[in-house]
Amino acid sequence: MRTNHQRIGQSLPYGRGSDQDRYHSDPSRDRKGAIGLLALSLVLLSACRQDMHDQPKYVPLRPSDFFADGRSARSITEGTVARGHLNDDTLLYTGKGADGKPSNEFPMPVTKALMLRGEQRYNVYCTPCHDRTGSGNGMIVRRGYRRPPTYHSDRLRQQPNGYLYDVITNGFGAMPDYAAQIPPPDRWAIVAYIRALQLSQQASIDDVPAAARGQLEGAARGRLGGAK
Ligand code: HEC
Repeated sequence: MRTNHQRIGQSLPYGRGSDQDRYHSDPSRDRKGAIGLLALSLVLLSACRQDMHDQPKYVPLRPSDFFADGRSARSITEGTVARGHLNDDTLLYTGKGADGKPSNEFPMPVTKALMLRGEQRYNVYCTPCHDRTGSGNGMIVRRGYRRPPTYHSDRLRQQPNGYLYDVITNGFGAMPDYAAQIPPPDRWAIVAYIRALQLSQQASIDDVPAAARGQLEGAARGRLGGAK
C-alpha cells in the first residue's frame, strides 16, 4: 500500500531510494519545478486581480456621461415594491378606510393579548411625554419639552382609531413620528391601549362587571387603610 509517508519518503535524501539516480536528482528538479509554478501563478493571479480592479464600473455617486441626467445611479422604476413590502392592506398600514378617511375599525381582533402588548409598547415609547395615564405630563415634559394635550379631552376621545394610528405613523405637529420604531401591528396595539386609558378616566362603577365590584371596593378600602 502506498501512503503519504512513502511518497514524502521518496523525495527525501534518506528516503527509501532503492533507485540511486532518483534520490540524487529528484529533490532539486522538484524544487525548480515548484519555483517555476509559483512564479507563473503569481504573474497570472496578479494580472487577474488587476483586471478586476480596472474593469469598467461606477462607484457610488460617480457621474456618468452615458445617461442624459448625468447620474450613474438609476432611480427605481416607479411602482417598484420591495419583497415583503406590498402593504396592500390599507387599513392596517394607513389607518384609513375605503373612503380615504381615518377609519374607526381595527384591522385585527382586539384581544387581551393585543391590549397587553399595547400597554407594554405604550409604556416604552409614549410615556416619556404622555405619561402612564395619558395626561401629557411625562418626564421629559417636566424637564421642559413641549407638553402634549391630554388624551382625556372630548376631542381626542372622539377621534377614530385610525386617527390615533396616523399620529403614531406620521407624527403630529411637534411630535415626531414613530414609524421606524414601531411596526404597524404594534401601533394598533397602542391605539387599543390608549382607548383603555381613555375609558379608565371616564368609567363609572356601572362599567365594572357586577361580580368584580366587591373586589374593587375591597381594594379601595385596603388602599385607604394603608394610607393611614
Ligand atoms: C417626545 C415626546 C413625545 C412622545 C415620545 C410621544 N408624543 Fe405624542 N405628542 C407629543 C406632543 C408634543 C404632542 C402635541 C404636538 C403638537 O400639538 O404640536 C403630541 C400629540 C399627540 C397626540 C394628539 C394629536 C392631536 O390631535 O392633538 C396623540 C394621539 C399622540 N401624541 C400619541 C402618541 C403616541 C401613541 C405615542 C407613542 C407611540 C406618542 N404620542 C409619543 C409628544 C410626544
